[in-house]
Amino acid sequence: MRTVDIIRKKRNGGELSQAELSHLVQGYCSGDIPDYQAAAWAMAVYFQGLTARETADLTGLMASSGDQLDLSDIPGVKVDKHSTGGVGDKTTLIIAPLVAAAGVPVAKMSGRGLGHTGGTIDKLESIPGFRTELERGDFVSQVKEIGLAVIGQSGNMTPADKQLYALRDVTATVDSVPLIASSIMSKKIAAGADRIVLDVKVGSGAFMKTVEAAEELAEAMVAIGEQVGRNTSALISDMDQPLGFAIGNALEVEEAIRTLRGEGPEDLTSLCLELASQMIVLGGKSDTIQQAKELLTALLKDGRALDKFRAFVEAQGGDPGVVDAPESILPVAATRTEVRSTEAGIVQAIDAEQLGAAAMHLGAGRATKDDRIDPAAGILMVKKVGDAVATGDVLALLCHNRTPSEAEEAARLAAAAYRMEHKPVADRPLVLSIVTSNGVQRLSDKDSM
Ligand code: URA
Repeated sequence: MRTVDIIRKKRNGGELSQAELSHLVQGYCSGDIPDYQAAAWAMAVYFQGLTARETADLTGLMASSGDQLDLSDIPGVKVDKHSTGGVGDKTTLIIAPLVAAAGVPVAKMSGRGLGHTGGTIDKLESIPGFRTELERGDFVSQVKEIGLAVIGQSGNMTPADKQLYALRDVTATVDSVPLIASSIMSKKIAAGADRIVLDVKVGSGAFMKTVEAAEELAEAMVAIGEQVGRNTSALISDMDQPLGFAIGNALEVEEAIRTLRGEGPEDLTSLCLELASQMIVLGGKSDTIQQAKELLTALLKDGRALDKFRAFVEAQGGDPGVVDAPESILPVAATRTEVRSTEAGIVQAIDAEQLGAAAMHLGAGRATKDDRIDPAAGILMVKKVGDAVATGDVLALLCHNRTPSEAEEAARLAAAAYRMEHKPVADRPLVLSIVTSNGVQRLSDKDSM
């Protein structure tokens, strides 16, 4: 089999066999296929696409290119969730204990933050003592015992995706639906869950700029799930501003704890309930989404979700006191700098990517994967979309341990993230569509952003 023939076949719109895709994936991983041929193939896919069968085959090949978690000795249906967003998205910290409290086991692998996006592992590690590296046996025992464990990604998971993603990043081939879909799903499949719930973000700060594009991506991922026997559903959710008010590791843990107490921001609470409900239904603990929401709301109200979070923190070596007094246990930044508005108006949108970049400047995120982060650093939004702002009003608070001049660039970025106009903002639902194997259910008429 010659690589050039496979590239030509895809360039001309042909359908590649599983053997041809395997030749490409294995050859690229082993170094037998050079970057320039893999790049030419990726560009051919960018223009010609992949069929559903090709996408599922590529996903399977990437999933099995490295370590895979076998969760079969944990009883029950294991449900994972994944978000394509990433600024201020602390949903895992809330959903994992909430779903576990409802009886669906959560054995989750999460990542660290890179660039403007945050990562669950960094957030958890802001809790003093919390360990995110567990032996496989301890990981499984913990899930069996308390229904919940979260660990960092193993170094050798989906190496084919790592290599291909790095190549796509520098060859303008990231934004291809079958390539994104297979990349995300390969990691979820390697992480071992039986069912998968996806939160596909749409909006200015997301990969997908329109609801149609987000639905197309979600449909591709749901189809992969069906093909490989891992039932998958997806929500399309609005990303015209970061979720909740907090961005930054310890700040987000504090907000997550408040949400588990039933006192969280409305947008965050509502998205968590929507995603967790999908998980409960896929996990077989509820017949309908409505029933699932009622069950989950009760678990938030009566403290069982918070108790599960406490047990989880304690099991992984963290200080469980964080649940009752987060402000005295979590690291706190020395300085709070106000970002004031230089104009009046109503907030129309808050660019999540830009605010994420501002938080990174304060030390909350990494520019390169070896950077050290400051767990206390971050941003507390004071104004959100729909709020009226007068000139001089505080838009956000920068929490940091930087010098004033170091914080200046972050303040500039944070102020620029706010888009203001003199008109009210139309009410918009946070969840725009639901995509399952039965098709797309559009909840809103909003069709472009
Ligand atoms: N996230 C991924 O994991 N892969 C992509 O290709 C795009 C976003």
